Order: sequence, then structure tokens, then C-alpha cells
Amino acid sequence: MESSKINNGINGEPKIPGDKSISHRSIIIPSISNGICEIHNILESEDVMHTMNAFINMGVKIEKFGNKIIIKGKGLQSLTKPVNDIYLGNSGTSARLLTGLLASQNFNSKLTGDKSLSSRPMDRIAKPLSLMNAKIITDNGKLPINIVGNELTNATINIEVPSAQIKSGLIFAALNTKGKTIIIENNITRDHTEVMLEAFDADIIVRKEKDSKIIEINGKKELKSKNINVPSDLSSSAFFIVAALINKNSKITLKNININPTRNGILLALKKMGANITYKNKRKINSEEVCDIYVESTNLNGCELESNFAELMIDEYPILAVAASFANSPSIFRGLNELRVKESDRLELINENLQRCGVNSLINENDLIIDPSNYYKINNHKIVTNFDHRIAMSFAIMGSKIGTLEIEDSESINTSFPTFISEFNKVGGNFS
Ligand code: S3P
Repeated sequence: MESSKINNGINGEPKIPGDKSISHRSIIIPSISNGICEIHNILESEDVMHTMNAFINMGVKIEKFGNKIIIKGKGLQSLTKPVNDIYLGNSGTSARLLTGLLASQNFNSKLTGDKSLSSRPMDRIAKPLSLMNAKIITDNGKLPINIVGNELTNATINIEVPSAQIKSGLIFAALNTKGKTIIIENNITRDHTEVMLEAFDADIIVRKEKDSKIIEINGKKELKSKNINVPSDLSSSAFFIVAALINKNSKITLKNININPTRNGILLALKKMGANITYKNKRKINSEEVCDIYVESTNLNGCELESNFAELMIDEYPILAVAASFANSPSIFRGLNELRVKESDRLELINENLQRCGVNSLINENDLIIDPSNYYKINNHKIVTNFDHRIAMSFAIMGSKIGTLEIEDSESINTSFPTFISEFNKVGGNFS
């Protein structure tokens, strides 16, 4: 993709697709529930299609009618041995969540993925699952994973790495395990799994104890299906929000955006930087907080974010770094070690690509420091993405401000936002 400078700002109402995290859960949970589920506004991206194909591969009836998906679920024990190995492409969420779910089935399975996914750590889910007696054979902690389906034993598990994917994988294992499994989380992570399971009648209790969250699940209780309306994705919205903030004469409206407080860090951070963002029509859809977001161009200030912010916005640092590049003062974002094990080593790639764009940035251990200037001279037009969708989209937005950038391997954006280019051009962008 080539991204070129725009002169008249971006204006209008881009359509933001359904939330990626909620879309994955909207396939997984109804597939193991009883009854029919109609899903509206699901994200039709490659990552979500990999989750959907996995369940079709395990005998679940999933059909598309117009813009809705219908899943006929037959309960916790209804999945059948996959006809083929389960290929999950680039999707870390599918890999971690399915490892937990498959560990407690009465059949064996094998998970594989693309080059990027095959280099990401899977022992972070295999290890805590082994405390429930799960039999998971990884390739040195990575994919491919062979899972020996097994009757698991309930346990109390303290999660060491802050990760909603690990937490959710463990919860899915516990659903099909006799007795009470207790999962202790010491850091806030997105809670879409718990929220949806409560709505589907799971025997799940979530409580706070000091700074920890305790999740208790009584397994083997059948779930009851419900219709789902997937709200639009805040992580995908963030590219448009920052584009509107940094490009003069911009004014955009983003409708029906999920603002779940366990992942709204990007909005808090941009507000700290003085962003002109307003929320209207706050409401709840399927127990998830949603609103319409209005954004206008703003001269941003720099900001300091401590490491606990990372839990609330881990996916949004690439685009926040672009925003910080146009602020009036320096920014420092601390404790970004988890960025190193995402679809790419995001911390290194953000820094390298900022430098290609002439931005004065550096990494100090796991902290990112950005010292902005108003006069960027592009050092190298080629942006390296290592097939990371969020790096590709963030630097496309950078190009809209500073001049032509060539984004390598930009097909990766299909993993989370296939309509990104057309929606950006619709509101005044210049991508080709
Ligand atoms: C996700 C959780 C996050 C996030 C990913 C989606 C999820 O990963 O980065 O894009 O849907 O549970 P971690 O929980 O591993 O940080």
C-alpha cells in the first residue's frame, strides 16, 4: 500500500467493523452452547474466519444469511474430532483460546499457523493448563501444538502473564471440567469472555479481592445460546481517531464503538494529551458499553504513561506513537515488554519505522521515548511491517500527515480490518 499526504483533513462517518475480540468469542461460545444464535455485525476478517473454520471443522453448523451469521450449538460435549489440522493463520487469540477449549475435549487435535504465529509463545497457555492435567505438546513452546484431549481436573491457577488470551483459554478449559476451577488474575485484562459467559448462563462468579480478580467456574454446566450484536472495534477506530487529531480541518463521527473499561486506555491516553474527543449516546449492548465518538483536529501535548496503562491498551501503542510524533512536547510510554511478543516485535518496529520517518525516538529497555518536531524529513519511504496489521495501518496514518510512504506486506490488514483502505479514502484519505 502507498499512503500519501492529505491536505483537507478527514471528514465524515467511516464505518468501523465489529470488534475482533468479541467476534472470536461470538463464534466460540455459541458453538458450545445449546440453541440457535444469530450474530449481527461480526468482523469478517481473516483472523475471525480462522476461528469460524475451526468450529466448522469440528462439526458445528455455522451459516451466513445476508449480513448475519447463524450458529446452531449443541452443547459442551458436541464438538467432534476435526477433519483436518486446525490452521489459524495469524491469529494469536484463536490459538490461545482454542488450546484451552480443546484440552478438555475427548479427541486429539493439532493447531498450526502462519510464520508470525508460529514464532509466538504458546507455553504461556500450555503451562497453566498443565496444572489442570492438560496434555499439550508444543514445539519448544511454539506452534504446531498437538493436544491430547483429556478429562481435566479442576485447579486454582494464578495467572503470571497479564493476558486476556491466557485467562480466556483457561476459562474455556474450565467450562468442560468437573468441579470448581479458580482463576486468579493480578492485572486488568479485557473481560469480554466473562461478560459473554454470564449472559449465556454459565456458572461463573467474578469478584475483586484487593488488587486481584478471582474468577470461579463450576464446570459441566450447559450454556444457553442468545443472539449477539457485536459492537464496533475501538482498536480499529483508533487509526481514524488519531488521523483526525493530527490532520488539520478534520471532524469525524464513529458510531457504535465498544468502550469496555478494561480496554479503553487509548481514549484515556489521548484525553491526557488534550485530544478533542467527545462521547455521545452511551448505552449497553449485550452487557458491553458502547457509544458514538466525535473527534476534531487537536494540537496534542506529549504524555507519560506508566506500565499499568499497557494492560488497558496493549494493541494501540503503534498508533499512539504516531499521535505522539505530532505533539508539542515529548512522550514516554513505560513497560512495553508485552509488545515484543505480538504479531511482530512491535516495540522494535514502532521505533525503527518512526526513525525511517525522521522522528526522534528511542527505546530504553522496555520504554519508548518520542521527542517530536514539526518538520519531518522522511529518511526511508519503505515501512517494514513484518506482516503486522497494526504496524501497517499506523504507518499508513503517518503517511497521511508527512508524505508518501510505501507500506510493505500491507495485505496483513485483512487480518483485522479488510475495509480499512476504502473507509479511509471515503473520508478524504489518500491510500492506493
Ligand atoms: C486479545 C487479547 C490481547 C490482544 C489481542 C486480542 C483477546 O492479547 O493483544 O489482540 O481477544 O483476548 P493478550 O491478552 O495476550 O495481551
